[in-house]
Amino acid sequence: MKAFSTTLLKWYDKNKRTLPWRDIGDPYKIWLSEIILQQTRVSQGTDYYLKFVRRFPSPLSLAQASEDEVLKLWQGLGYYSRARNLHAAAKSMNGKFPTTYEGVRALKGVGDYTAAAICSMAYQMPYAVVDGNVFRVLSRVFGIETPIDTVPGKKKFTQKAQDLLDKKRPGDFNQAMMDFGAMVCTPQTPQCLLCPLAKKCYAFQNNRVNGLPVKTQKTKISTRYFHYIYVKQGKYTWLRKRGAGDVWQHLYELPLLETAVETVDFSSVKWLKNKKPHLICKPIKHVLSHRVIFADLYQIILPPSIKLPVPYFRISVSDLSQYAVSRLMQKLLEKVNH
Ligand code: ADE
Repeated sequence: MKAFSTTLLKWYDKNKRTLPWRDIGDPYKIWLSEIILQQTRVSQGTDYYLKFVRRFPSPLSLAQASEDEVLKLWQGLGYYSRARNLHAAAKSMNGKFPTTYEGVRALKGVGDYTAAAICSMAYQMPYAVVDGNVFRVLSRVFGIETPIDTVPGKKKFTQKAQDLLDKKRPGDFNQAMMDFGAMVCTPQTPQCLLCPLAKKCYAFQNNRVNGLPVKTQKTKISTRYFHYIYVKQGKYTWLRKRGAGDVWQHLYELPLLETAVETVDFSSVKWLKNKKPHLICKPIKHVLSHRVIFADLYQIILPPSIKLPVPYFRISVSDLSQYAVSRLMQKLLEKVNH
């Protein structure tokens, strides 16, 4: 036990990455970085983090922004409910980041993982984080075969991480697990030959490195077919804001027809007045966490008198870039000849 933490922290002190939210003790900035890093890798997340802290240096500045602006800054990261939760949480703080574990855990969008990360790194509180890195490192080093996507599995790994946590340096211990999991004990081709724990590692000694951690089920993937229509009406086009309870909540998009199969028939779309849109982009495959979306793009030129039904609204093409859109929408819009 002691040997594990000592070896890990020694490795960390020598090999840790220099990251802008590290060793600063600012809970607000650590929170921002953690929410962003749930969505992307450190390499891409760093740019977003710097953009966010520059524009919103304090909880108050984030609270006072519009949701549209927060979403626009988040654009490209995906899973936009995280951005909305970030904004809602900032509004709930009254300008002051909470200072207790319970207070932090009660923030919108903050679960056990994020609360442990913030409290250990900003306040040196003894909470071990459990993320994908922790599952991987502990299952391999200690030969824990319990599937990680089960309740007993989660309990077991949480207990193990908590037992191992260095109570004098909880923030460093947690970040050491993350860096070690990202740099040495990686999912594919881990660096066992350079690993300071290899001598004691169950997986390395028993040739179980590729088999650990164990997972019971693959998440079911559903497929959807989206057909977007870019409406050309002089210098205008049409958009709508997506609603609740589906992908890309509150982001903007072009007029859409969704079908259950690959093919599409536009004859039911009244405002097209039986005109046929022409295809300008073949289906793009877009993979979300448990969905695959195939989206193609059509274009139609309509006379100025035609109005699309609510919730669609008309905008100047020159204002298009002001609206927060999904990454997929961004890719499709690049294909349009405005
Ligand atoms: N991933 C999420 N939080 C991190 C941190 N503080 N350091 C390294 N990787 C991380």
